[in-house]
Amino acid sequence: MKSKFEELKTIFIDSVDKNNYVELESATYNYNILETSLLKPLKMILLYGKPGTGKSMLLNKLYHNLKEHREIHYFDAPILSEKAFLKEIYEAMSGQSIPDNMRVNFDGLLKYCQSLRDKREVVFLLDECQLYSEALMEKIRLLSDTRVVKFVITLHKTEDEDIIAKEHFKTRIWEVIVMKNVTEEDLQLYLQKKLIKKGFIEVSNMISKKDIKYIHYMTNGNFRETNKYLYTVFDIYEYYEKNNPKKISTKKLSKKILEMAAIRLGYIDA
Ligand SMILES: Nc1ncnc2c1ncn2[C@@H]1O[C@H](COP(=O)(O)OP(=O)(O)O)[C@@H](O)[C@H]1O
Ligand SMILES: [Mg+2]
Repeated sequence: MKSKFEELKTIFIDSVDKNNYVELESATYNYNILETSLLKPLKMILLYGKPGTGKSMLLNKLYHNLKEHREIHYFDAPILSEKAFLKEIYEAMSGQSIPDNMRVNFDGLLKYCQSLRDKREVVFLLDECQLYSEALMEKIRLLSDTRVVKFVITLHKTEDEDIIAKEHFKTRIWEVIVMKNVTEEDLQLYLQKKLIKKGFIEVSNMISKKDIKYIHYMTNGNFRETNKYLYTVFDIYEYYEKNNPKKISTKKLSKKILEMAAIRLGYIDA
C-alpha cells in the first residue's frame, strides 16, 4: 500500500497545470491586470519576476481561460531556433503547415501580418523569454508593431541584472506586470487550498499560523522554494511513517521535522 506521506509529498512536485491553479489574492490581482491589458490596444505585455513566482502558472491559466474566446497560441517552452520560431508563428497564423525544408522569410511574415491589420488580432503567449536571443526578441517586437499579433511574454528577473532596464524593452512593452514572492497570508492560502483540493484536509489543519511563519521565513514566500520545502518535509514524514510511526503526530506539524527539512535543503545549518 502506498503510504499517506508518499502520496502527499507528490502534491509538491512543481507542475504547471491549470488544474492545480489555486486562487490567491496576489495571483488573482495579477491575473486581472493581465486580462485587462489584453483588452487594451497593447502590443506587448511582460510578466516579470524571479523564478518560482508563478509566471508560467499565470500564463497557462490565461491560455486555458481564453482559448475558446479568441485566437491565442501558447508556447510553453521556448523555441530557440529562429527558423523554427518563425515557422511556428506562420503556421499558427495561417493554419497551414510548412514542409521542413522550407524557411519562412521574416519580411514576408511581417508583410503577411500587416495585410491582416484590423482584420485579425492574434495573441501569442511566450514563456521563458530570457532564453530567446536579442535578435529574435527584436523580430518579436517588430511583429508586435503590426498590431496584428500581440505577445504576452514571461521573463525571469535575476539577482544581478535588470533585463528590462538594460535592454530596449521599454519602448514597446506597454504593460509590465511584476510577479513577487507571496505574503504569509497568501502562503497559508496556497498550502490550505492545495491540500484541501487533493483531499488532505486533516493535513491542512495540522499547519498552524506559527508553522506558516516558519515556512515563509525559510522560503521567502517563493512558490518553487515552498514546494521544494514541503516535499522534503513530507519526505521525512514518510520515512518516520515507515520506520518509526510512533514518533509522528497527526495533530500538528513537527517542528523538528520542519527543521530537519530546512537543514537538508541548506536553509539553515545543523
Ligand atoms: N496560483 C498558483 N496556484 C497553484 N500553484 C501555483 C500557483 N503559482 C505557482 N504555483 C506553483 O509554483 C510552481 C512555480 O511556479 P511557476 O509558475 O513555474 O513560476 P515561474 O514561472 O515564475 O518560475 C509551479 O510549479 C506551481 O506548482
Ligand atoms: Mg516559468
